[in-house]
Amino acid sequence: MATTTQQLSHVYPIGSYLDERGRLHVGGCDVLELAREYGTPAYIVDEDDLRQRARGFKEAFAALHDRVELVFATKAFPCTAVLRLFAEEGFGCDVASGGELALALRAGVDPARIHLHGNAKSDEEIAEALAAGIGDVVIDNFDDVEKLERLATGTQTVQIRITPDVAGDTHAAISTGQADSKFGFGLDDARAAIERIERSRNLELTGLHAHIGSQLLALQPFRLAVAAMASLGHFTTVNLGGGLGVAYTREQEPPRVADYARAKVEAVHEHFGADVTIMDEPGRALVGNGCVTIYTVQSVKRNVSTWVGVDGGMSDNLRPMLYGARYEAAVADRFGHGTHRHLVGKHCESGDVLITLADLRDPQPGDVVVTPATGGYGHSMANNYNGQPRPVIFCSGGDARVVVRRETYADLLARDEA
Ligand SMILES: Cc1ncc(COP(=O)(O)O)c(C=O)c1O
Repeated sequence: MATTTQQLSHVYPIGSYLDERGRLHVGGCDVLELAREYGTPAYIVDEDDLRQRARGFKEAFAALHDRVELVFATKAFPCTAVLRLFAEEGFGCDVASGGELALALRAGVDPARIHLHGNAKSDEEIAEALAAGIGDVVIDNFDDVEKLERLATGTQTVQIRITPDVAGDTHAAISTGQADSKFGFGLDDARAAIERIERSRNLELTGLHAHIGSQLLALQPFRLAVAAMASLGHFTTVNLGGGLGVAYTREQEPPRVADYARAKVEAVHEHFGADVTIMDEPGRALVGNGCVTIYTVQSVKRNVSTWVGVDGGMSDNLRPMLYGARYEAAVADRFGHGTHRHLVGKHCESGDVLITLADLRDPQPGDVVVTPATGGYGHSMANNYNGQPRPVIFCSGGDARVVVRRETYADLLARDEA
């Protein structure tokens, strides 16, 4: 085994290091070799990192409460290998569309542990979920109630999603707990929905759900959300959504999973007592830091600023463009401080900037550049802008395997009928 010369910041997958030549290793694999073998851009996922974080969540909740159901929020990294891994680690999953449901079923997730979300579910999606025998449907609005009552042939268990009028400190686009939200029922409507479902001949209410937003770095809003839920009465299941933030840059210190679990579980104990099932739906915190994206530098030029152009961009990471999200980057065999240059993608708009003024050490065409912390909502929001193909590689113990193969040009053309 190579001599470890430098461990990396917590932004990188657990166990990543620079070898004695200064080359980045992820999941025991030399990232430059991965770039050579699998091409770029590519998502490199450290399988062991994901497993370790899954176990961290399980242990943190199990230490505080007996009846806990952890489900992976599929939207954070929707691919078969990731869903299968979390199923192996004992997680159920939540899905927010028919497509995510199909993926979860293909990954072998126990249907009873799949739960359906969505603020605009179609008849088809509900019918598919019922046919699959999923666990709970999370009712978001009165139209869901009507559709489910019409479509369910047997008894279907449901939760009610509420918007508790609690805003976490996050980007507006991923804040969901405020009163004026497209997700869930306000408290007054939630009371009406509860009464309506209690009268239903084929819907059985098991609990309440609230997910107040994503990339939350403070815990108090989670406690406030639980208090608001409790104002609706006592339920056997309290589903607390996800939301724990991750570090995208080395100075960010998100709450520890143990503290996140304690904040949520203590609030449930205080407001509902201990005789409930607690559900939690983490996404980003399970996959965010276990993945890096690798690119190859294609051009370096000076137009007032210096622009370092790579072979990906907003096709593989939309977060900087959607939310102004900040990342860090490094040349994969030349870490350390350099000068500040814009790291930009190859796509046909000026907004395709991955990092404004990235600190990069002498990047040159042909160099492999890595951006850490791209596991959460990277692959899920990836697209084929400019006909860009996308792959995912899993690494563990020095071995690598393709889990989502890069599209071929034939794949890109396959659906065109003309
Ligand atoms: C209903 C629901 N649950 C869980 C999550 C996962 O959130 P996060 O990735 O922040 O943990 C989301 C995503 O925003 C969501 O909409």
